[in-house]
Amino acid sequence: MPYAQITGWGMHVPARALTNENLVQMGVDTSHDWIASRTGIERRFVAGKDEATSDLAVKAAQEALLLAGTRPSEVDLILVATCTPDHIMPSTASLVQNRLGAENAGAMDINAACAGFVYALSVGAGQIESGRARQVLVIGADELSIYLNWRDRSTCVLFGDGAGAVLLRASDTPGVLASTTGSDGSGANLLMIPAGGSRIRMNGRAPAQKDRYLRMNGPQIFRWATQMMAKAAQKVITSSGLKPDQVTLVIPHQANLRIMEATAKRLGVSTEKVFSNVRNYGNTSAASIPIALCEAIGAGMVKPGDNIVLTSFGAGLSWSAVALRWNVEVPAHLPRWSPLRRQLEATMATLRSALRRQERAVRTTIEERLHRD
Ligand code: COA
Repeated sequence: MPYAQITGWGMHVPARALTNENLVQMGVDTSHDWIASRTGIERRFVAGKDEATSDLAVKAAQEALLLAGTRPSEVDLILVATCTPDHIMPSTASLVQNRLGAENAGAMDINAACAGFVYALSVGAGQIESGRARQVLVIGADELSIYLNWRDRSTCVLFGDGAGAVLLRASDTPGVLASTTGSDGSGANLLMIPAGGSRIRMNGRAPAQKDRYLRMNGPQIFRWATQMMAKAAQKVITSSGLKPDQVTLVIPHQANLRIMEATAKRLGVSTEKVFSNVRNYGNTSAASIPIALCEAIGAGMVKPGDNIVLTSFGAGLSWSAVALRWNVEVPAHLPRWSPLRRQLEATMATLRSALRRQERAVRTTIEERLHRD
């Protein structure tokens, strides 16, 4: 049975940064000290008006493919973990597939909210292990800023936008060692965006503004998360046959520094082994773990032979964890021609897509004429 190994990684965040001070200046009834002391967050990035989730996802994915040395046409499957897709349909993954020019890839979205990326990693690894795919692009991308009520200080200070991606490739040497996924829908009401689906119908009217916003019971989520992330991590550590002291790095979902510290304590690992960058990005939902992975790699905290545990929680309630053995050398930098190659591949993908559309239109016209005659 082949293993699924991470061979490429990439991340992207929007250009616009919002510090805690900026939020205060915007009129949010909060303070830098409150946010920093309760959550560890100091800054987050927010997408511009013309920047959709797929735009962030494509950039992160291009970087991951370049690092892996994989052409878009070699990818078998694209999974986009997101709860803020560009549209209800088609999937954001299909839009990403088109923009990348990944003409041989299947594509679908996975929505497990903030736990989505690790869920998708588990699904992608399963496809490789079963022999159904050899290269799977797994992306976590979200723009929760769109659903924030900027007058609700208990939620708007917590979230940011971003995307992260990894390329999984079939390998003879261990990569993903174990994974777990879970859900407890009895807690669905604790974190939700009520409108936008089939439950709150429009009946000719727009849904109430309050139902378009993310709503959350922070304290209850907090209590649950401090237990759940550790439990999920513990489960994959045990089922991968690792001893806790063999784990070199834990990358938890970046929601709140205090939740991460509590997770480290429950797991019995030192906080130095638990990576956190929530300070700079806030909670980027499904993007948080791949962004953190990229930054941990960039900080020199990941090397071949390391055992890494990713553990996450989110709306649903849902959770997932993966234990993996890192096996690739981290290149000091991308080859010099990488931006050129990225540009070329993107241009080719745009041209190919335009040609396909044209071809479809011409064929439809001809078929209609023939049918009429
Ligand atoms: N600035 C200032 N005060 C704030 C505030 C803010 N941004 N947000 C809430 N407060 C106030 C509350 O109004 C409350 O005031 P009161 O005591 O006068 O009523 C007080 O701070 C305490 O509120 P509480 O909600 O109990 O705070 P908390 O210590 O639980 O921290 C969270 C709130 C949201 C930071 C914390 O519960 C949390 O991180 N929960 C998990 C959320 C999460 O991770 N969600 C994503 C899941 S993927």
